[in-house]
Amino acid sequence: MNNLNTPKGDILIVDDVPENLQLLFTMLTEHDYDVRRVLSGKQALQVVDVEAPDLILLDIKMPELDGYQVCKILKSQEKTKHIPIIFLSALNDTFDKVHAFNVGGVDYITKPFQIEEVVIRVENQLRLLNMQREIESKNQELILLNQDLEAFSHRVSHDLKNKIHIINGFSQLIAQEFSHQFEPNVKEYFQYIHDEGKRMAEVIRDLLRLSQVQNIDIEYSTFNISEIVTEISDKLTAENKNRTVDFIISPNVYGRGDLNLIRIVLENLLENAYKYTAKTLKPRIEFGTYQQEGKDIYFIKDNGVGFNPREAEKLFTPFHRLHTDREFKGTGIGLSTVKRIIQRHHGDIWYDAQVNQGATFYFYLY
Ligand SMILES: Nc1ncnc2c1ncn2[C@@H]1O[C@H](COP(=O)(O)OP(=O)(O)OP(=O)(O)O)[C@@H](O)[C@H]1O
Ligand SMILES: [Mg+2]
Repeated sequence: MNNLNTPKGDILIVDDVPENLQLLFTMLTEHDYDVRRVLSGKQALQVVDVEAPDLILLDIKMPELDGYQVCKILKSQEKTKHIPIIFLSALNDTFDKVHAFNVGGVDYITKPFQIEEVVIRVENQLRLLNMQREIESKNQELILLNQDLEAFSHRVSHDLKNKIHIINGFSQLIAQEFSHQFEPNVKEYFQYIHDEGKRMAEVIRDLLRLSQVQNIDIEYSTFNISEIVTEISDKLTAENKNRTVDFIISPNVYGRGDLNLIRIVLENLLENAYKYTAKTLKPRIEFGTYQQEGKDIYFIKDNGVGFNPREAEKLFTPFHRLHTDREFKGTGIGLSTVKRIIQRHHGDIWYDAQVNQGATFYFYLY
């Protein structure tokens, strides 16, 4: 656009005084603009209809249709409403700035014109316009890209999910029906296939969930969070008979949000607290709430391995983990799902942690 050979922008000047037109025309063509000029509001509307300019300089005081009226009409038409309009007014005109902005003008220039001022105001508007266009096209690109990606991951996850279930099912069947014919190490290999298959199914489930969270419609209701926390902790206790974890749950803590999504948040945070206290002598997980700046802050606190907060800036990005798979199994999708859900509730999540001194995750919802 700023190439020497191409004009910097296409400008339409509307003024019923030919001398004014000529002056502005000369000024702006000298500054490499493409300039069209008309002598009345009616002509302006016709010209704009044939080919919309990038910017209009519009005189206010004109016979028949005045500048305000022309502006109003252009702003009411889908095709022309985006064109920025700078009003031109004489110093001694009764010029109503507020009205000019109200009808949709973006700026004004008073006569007699000063070359520098006109050029600067025109350039400002065109720069804004270009930025706006760039943002729009980038946005459009992003939307398309995102749609592609979402369709792709959805498809892959669904296909993979079905296939992995088939592999898991058959390997389990073989292991059960033919185990008496196996050499001892074959049994071990099948166990390995089974464990990894199960993990893969979990990863796919988590990925699917992560992509769904973005699109799902939020249904608000008020519910007892303590009860959900208790349910989840009971389930974790039942599934892990070999572990004893002390749960301290503040009773009757209420919250408002999407019940299903908040359940996913709590599941992830509690599963983490549970997992990362597996090597702790007297594991303890606490759920509670407090008020800060008028907000209900909820927290889940554990006394597990913790982590170094200085290494944790990517904690909420998918697949980022602070522990190796050998130390603790996991894929690193949990907290990114949690963060997305909380963002969708216009809330926030943060943490407090130290190596070997546990971690606390705090969040609030709007
Ligand atoms: N309570 C916690 N204590 C210590 N480290 C934690 C805790 N919660 C999360 N982390 C760290 O943050 C990382 C990201 O957590 P996230 O829940 O996203 O993944 P994950 O637990 O590894 O895997 P999964 O996707 O199965 O949940 C973890 O890998 C772990 O290093
Ligand atoms: Mg996790």
